Amino acid sequence: MLLERFFSILLAASTLLNGSMHTAMPDKDINGTLFLINRQHSVSERYIPEPIRTTETTGVSQKMRDDAATALEALFAGAEEDDIRLYTVSGYRSYSTQKTIYARKVRNTGSEKAADKLVARPGTSEHQLALAMDLGTRTDQSLSERFAKTKEGQWVYQNAHRYGFIVRYLEGYEDVTGYDYEPWHIRYVGQPFAEAIHETGQPLETFMSQYKLELYDYLIHLTSNEVLP
Ligand code: DAL
Ligand code: ZN
Repeated sequence: MLLERFFSILLAASTLLNGSMHTAMPDKDINGTLFLINRQHSVSERYIPEPIRTTETTGVSQKMRDDAATALEALFAGAEEDDIRLYTVSGYRSYSTQKTIYARKVRNTGSEKAADKLVARPGTSEHQLALAMDLGTRTDQSLSERFAKTKEGQWVYQNAHRYGFIVRYLEGYEDVTGYDYEPWHIRYVGQPFAEAIHETGQPLETFMSQYKLELYDYLIHLTSNEVLP
């Protein structure tokens, strides 16, 4: 809670200095790191993040936004130091790639209802932001819940936040995120936010609503101080 309040204050101060709505509402800043994309908040078919580049990591060659790619490379290097070797499986996906993947999942599961728990509809995936990466191990890159039980999956859960990533679709919060547990899907939010979110143990949706409430409280507090003698 302390960390969250600290960031709220930092953001509020920065907002007051430069008057930017994007700073005041980071979940609406598509080029920031806290942009909230989910079943309720989508992006345009035309949205292509930039700059994006191929990550220098083991696994299938994948792209991410430059800031996320740099952080992912640090995460992979940190894992190596602990004798953990991770593999990239799926990073940036354009709107049309996501459309193909979603359609395939509907065919394979037999219904949109079943597919919706597993794959985001086009325009609603963090992969289109180029801020998400799906991870696997040397022997298993099938993106299954088994990843959570591997030493690689456990290392990711315990350490990803130190590099600015969160495990985005948590077990027990399927009703909040809208998706089944995905221990392999990590989302870049930036290091201080990742630390704060990991500490709450809650999904990004919950953190953002709490965070905004704190920010507004603080802004109201500042305004009151200005008007009162
Ligand atoms: N599997 C995640 C939800 C996606 O398709 O973005
Ligand atoms: Zn994913």
